[in-house]
Amino acid sequence: MLELRTNRGREGGPGARAKIWTVSETTADTTGQQPPARRGAAYDSAFLRACRREPVPHTPVWFMRQAGRSLPEYLKVREGIPMLESCMRPELVKEITLQPVRRHKVDAAIFFSDIVVPLKAIGIDVDIKPGIGPVIADPIRTAEDLKRLRNLEPDDVPYITEAVGLLVDELGSTPLIGFAGAPYTLASYLVEGGPSKNHENTKAMMYGQPELWAELVDRLADITSAFLKVQIEAGASAVQLFDSWVGALAPDDYRRSVMPASTKVFDAVAGYGVPRIHFGVGTGELLGLMGQAGADVVGVDWRVPLNVAAERVGPGKALQGNLDPAVLFAPTHAVETKAREVLHAAQAIGSSGHIFNLGHGVLPSMDPDALSRLVAFVHEASAR
Ligand code: CP3
Repeated sequence: MLELRTNRGREGGPGARAKIWTVSETTADTTGQQPPARRGAAYDSAFLRACRREPVPHTPVWFMRQAGRSLPEYLKVREGIPMLESCMRPELVKEITLQPVRRHKVDAAIFFSDIVVPLKAIGIDVDIKPGIGPVIADPIRTAEDLKRLRNLEPDDVPYITEAVGLLVDELGSTPLIGFAGAPYTLASYLVEGGPSKNHENTKAMMYGQPELWAELVDRLADITSAFLKVQIEAGASAVQLFDSWVGALAPDDYRRSVMPASTKVFDAVAGYGVPRIHFGVGTGELLGLMGQAGADVVGVDWRVPLNVAAERVGPGKALQGNLDPAVLFAPTHAVETKAREVLHAAQAIGSSGHIFNLGHGVLPSMDPDALSRLVAFVHEASAR
């Protein structure tokens, strides 16, 4: 069981609610006060230290999609509750977020939600269909359609503020990672109307109507920024921007048509001082640009070894990754051999600055015990 702690800031008494910080307070730091990331009980956790490239007692590890379908306890509490509805129930969100932390002893929790939650919250007709993913009833393809993308206000997502608050109180020194979908990946769902292999409608707009496209990703940048701010202000101690499908683009197109919007998101949350992680699949050719967009930590999939990724990203950034998720279906000795290779390649980053993760998310059919064994192995093999 997770230890129950109620004091999220150091200065509050037991049970005290931590102060909710705003950007102006954290950037106007003229009083010698430290920004919230320095105050939280998780500040000295291995995960946050690695994000800041500080020495760590062991390489921290967590898994993208760790909260979800590979866990029987998840399937049990989700029974009969549609995915998006479950994201709006704070007590349920708390329980699902904590499940993998209790079971696997990972170094960070990732908030249980979905990248389309902010779209739903502003009135877009979106549903998550099991085995398919997000499906949008009326795709966004014209200037008229764009009018439906209004800004997100904190009052649109009170359940997010509440769930993050509950979680941070309970997690104590274990950091909570907030997240959002990046403008390109969200745009791909909105324009296609659902998951897509070739992104043909998305690219048709990007190449054929560049002004409309720029307006679309700019609006999504604002929505995403607002969604991340809500999570940070409620107490998340790091954020990850998922640009899962941006690997579909060539570097020049990324630089021209996507990077300005992603940069806008990172700039919008820079003042909070919480680490910003950026991840996409198949982004080997984009790693340098994704770092330049404003990430403190660049997530790497399994196709590029971390020593090569370190060269592409350049100095001053931590790396996260990058065991091939499919390796988890092999026997334990093979998992350990491959995990050791990841740890070895990460030494190129320097003595710190590596967060162990999979190269993409946990798969539903994965054996949860194999994940728990992997966490223990990474901790042991990387102990300093
Ligand atoms: O990582 C975590 O454990 C936290 C929760 C989380 C979910 N979605 C819960 C979820 C996170 C971080 C996401 C992000 C997300 N959602 C991404 C980026 C990450 C990635 O995998 O690249 C994307 C592309 C989505 C969109 C989405 N939502 C997809 C593709 C799916 C899977 C559809 C399916 O059933 O195969 C979802 C649904 C979803 N989001 C589930 C979970 C646990 C499964 C829903 C269920 O249990 O019925």
